Formats: sequence, C-alpha cells, structure tokens
Amino acid sequence: MLEQVKLKRIEAEKQGEPILRNKSFDLLLEKVKEKKPKRILEIGVNLGLSSIAMLLVSQNSLLTGIEIDEQKVKKAKDNYAFFNVDKRAKIFTGDASEIIPVLTGSYDFIFLDGPKGHYFEYLPHLLGVLERGGILFADNVLFRGYVDGKVKTPHRFNTTKNSMEKFLQAISSDSGLKTEIIDIEDGISITEKLL
Ligand SMILES: C[S@@+](CC[C@H](N)C(=O)[O-])C[C@H]1O[C@@H](n2cnc3c(N)ncnc32)[C@H](O)[C@@H]1O
Repeated sequence: MLEQVKLKRIEAEKQGEPILRNKSFDLLLEKVKEKKPKRILEIGVNLGLSSIAMLLVSQNSLLTGIEIDEQKVKKAKDNYAFFNVDKRAKIFTGDASEIIPVLTGSYDFIFLDGPKGHYFEYLPHLLGVLERGGILFADNVLFRGYVDGKVKTPHRFNTTKNSMEKFLQAISSDSGLKTEIIDIEDGISITEKLL
C-alpha cells in the first residue's frame, strides 16, 4: 500500500502539486512509526498522501486534517477512501488561522505544512493542543535557504522569512520544548513538548 502512495506522490509531483519532498517524507514516517501517535493533526493536507502514509505506518492512529482548498479536500477524501483509511481520517475545510484557535481536541503528533508565513501565529495554539511528550513536526522551516542566509531573500518573501525566523526562535528558546532543526530539503524542525 505504501508503495502505491509513493506512486501517487510521483504522479502528484508531475502535476505540480506541492507535496512533501522525499527525504522529509521518509523522516516524517520514521517519526510517526517511532511515536505511534493516538491522534495526529495535519495542517495543509493537499491530496492527503502524507496523511495516508502516516495512517498506514501507524495502524491505530486517527488523523484530523485542515485544508483551505475545497477541490483538494475532495481529492484527499477520495484518496482516504481508496486507501481504506477514511474511517480514521477527517478534514476540516477552511482557513487554518480560523480553525486552529478553536480546536478542542488534543494531539500527540502535529504535522505543520500549511501557509509558511503563519507558523509563528499558529504556534501558541498548536502548543496548547499538543500533549506533553507530543511532537510538532514542521516542514519548510529553512524556507528556500532564505532563513539560514544561504540564499538572498527576494523582497516579496521578507515577511514570510521573518515570520519563519520568529517561529524557529520561539521553538528553540522555550525551555519547555526540545527542538531539532534538520537541514534537509526545505528544512524540517522536530519539537518535543517536554512540559
Ligand atoms: C505543502 S501543501 C501540503 C502537503 C501535504 N501536507 C503533503 O505532505 O502532501 C500545503 C497545503 O496547505 C494548504 N493551505 C494553504 N493555505 C492554507 C490555509 N490558510 N489554511 C489551510 N490550508 C492551507 C494548501 O492548499 C496546500 O494544499
């Protein structure tokens, strides 16, 4: 089944869909396998291919996704049904900025892969619903090399870059959190909530 998800990822990439890159995808699955979360929250679901892969490697997990694009939600739901994980996955359709602050559940694994300029804004709410010992896995934290200065930031991306820097600073300096920043692909951060 996982091989089939990988084939769908290749297809989606060819169609220009913004899917998680390969090494980051492998790392995500490694962490999910290790943690075996009860409840996963994914911000930015796209076609649901990472959701499905997480649910396939962790058979007792449930997943809640948030996705703004209705067409993508429809495709993700079809994919959930195709891979027979639809009973373990649900999606809230809408803007994560509005949905995250009103989430009522708690989660022990959060995959943050939504709009890059909003991670810092989401952070307090995400930490609020993340259980102690839970993991916050975020993609794109080095944002095209702009964040660590490897690539000069074009003017139009300054706001997003600055916001991502504030996110990284916040997850790295909080003594209640343990964060690792991994320089692969577009940059991954893995944060464990200690307290
Ligand atoms: C990089 S893609 C997600 C990829 C997916 N997590 C995966 O691994 O295949 C980012 C997704 O976030 C969605 N998105 C963008 N802005 C959003 C917002 N404000 N609220 C919710 N979803 C949003 C986009 O429509 C897109 O599907």
